[in-house]
Amino acid sequence: MQARSIFGKLVAGVAFATLSALTSLAHAQAAKPNVVILATGGTIAGAGASALNSATYAAAKVGVEKLIAGLPELGTVANVRGEQVFQVASESLTNDNLLTLAKRVSALAKQPDVDGIVITHGTDTVEETAYFLTLTVHTSKPIVMVASMRPGTALSADGALNLFDAVSVAGSKDAMGKGVLLTMNDSIESGRDVSKNFNIKPSAFVSQWGSLGMVVEGKNYWFRAPVKRHTMNSEFDIDTITSLPNVEIAMGYEGVSPTAIEALGKSGVKALIHGGPGNGSVADRIVPYLQKVRADGAIVIRSSRVPDGFVIRNAEQPDDKYDWVVAHDLRPQKARILAMVALTKTSDTKELQRIFWEY
Ligand code: DGL
Repeated sequence: MQARSIFGKLVAGVAFATLSALTSLAHAQAAKPNVVILATGGTIAGAGASALNSATYAAAKVGVEKLIAGLPELGTVANVRGEQVFQVASESLTNDNLLTLAKRVSALAKQPDVDGIVITHGTDTVEETAYFLTLTVHTSKPIVMVASMRPGTALSADGALNLFDAVSVAGSKDAMGKGVLLTMNDSIESGRDVSKNFNIKPSAFVSQWGSLGMVVEGKNYWFRAPVKRHTMNSEFDIDTITSLPNVEIAMGYEGVSPTAIEALGKSGVKALIHGGPGNGSVADRIVPYLQKVRADGAIVIRSSRVPDGFVIRNAEQPDDKYDWVVAHDLRPQKARILAMVALTKTSDTKELQRIFWEY
């Protein structure tokens, strides 16, 4: 009898200890935000032949489950789960990929059990995807893009800390309502403003109007907030967008011929972004070709190949007279994203110019 009662007490004790451990785990998990990681590929999912291959490697090789398993520290700041949306190098993403990703983000953001979303992405075009999402996803929950300049197999790889920072920010209440963000190299950047400015080092990304803040050891330090319309304050909604119009870019440079503009005009673009030198300058010999693009019904938008600054309307070209639009401070690749989204609603040039001032 005595042995049985001792055994019974032992079992009861183990059961109680297990129950209390599970309860405290449940409380701990309940206390942590739920963050979903959507993986699309890129270098952050890349792998090189050796630790010395920081620039020579294959992108889009490592799956999201392996990324998460390789970083157990994520569990200290959030309850994390992953979805593999694509597994591609970002230069190869398409408009359809953009729509698929944005619609998945929108659906997850509506779920009450999702507090924040992280998107792992290639660095080459993350600035375009980030802008598209900030223009079209109606949520105030944090949506945080993250990438890396070196594959996880390289010495001083940057992906692990970038990903930890992204999950930490995505689970932060103070990151709500700031539009789509990008965490890279300790900085928190605005998805609208950020661009890749250097092609082979971890400090590759800058925003011409400055970072929004920094994230250090899981704590966010904010220094400014976006002023352009985004997410909840956007008139564009991914849930109502089924396709994106064809918008292309033609660059301006010394000796430029009209070949590209003519071909793009004939291809039936809905808008043509001209990435001119300086303040969006257009070579005299090119003006008539852009006028024909406009006369044939496409929208002409003057952007600049100069990384920073903004194009002044009616300065280098009589935009009012030609019925052209200026891209404000948007680089050609960003202007193309806004033009595609705007053209899902209007092709009125006065409305389009308003949209380029406001977003
Ligand atoms: N192919 C590039 C991309 O997927 C690799 C660059 C990177 O992700 O850092 O964007």
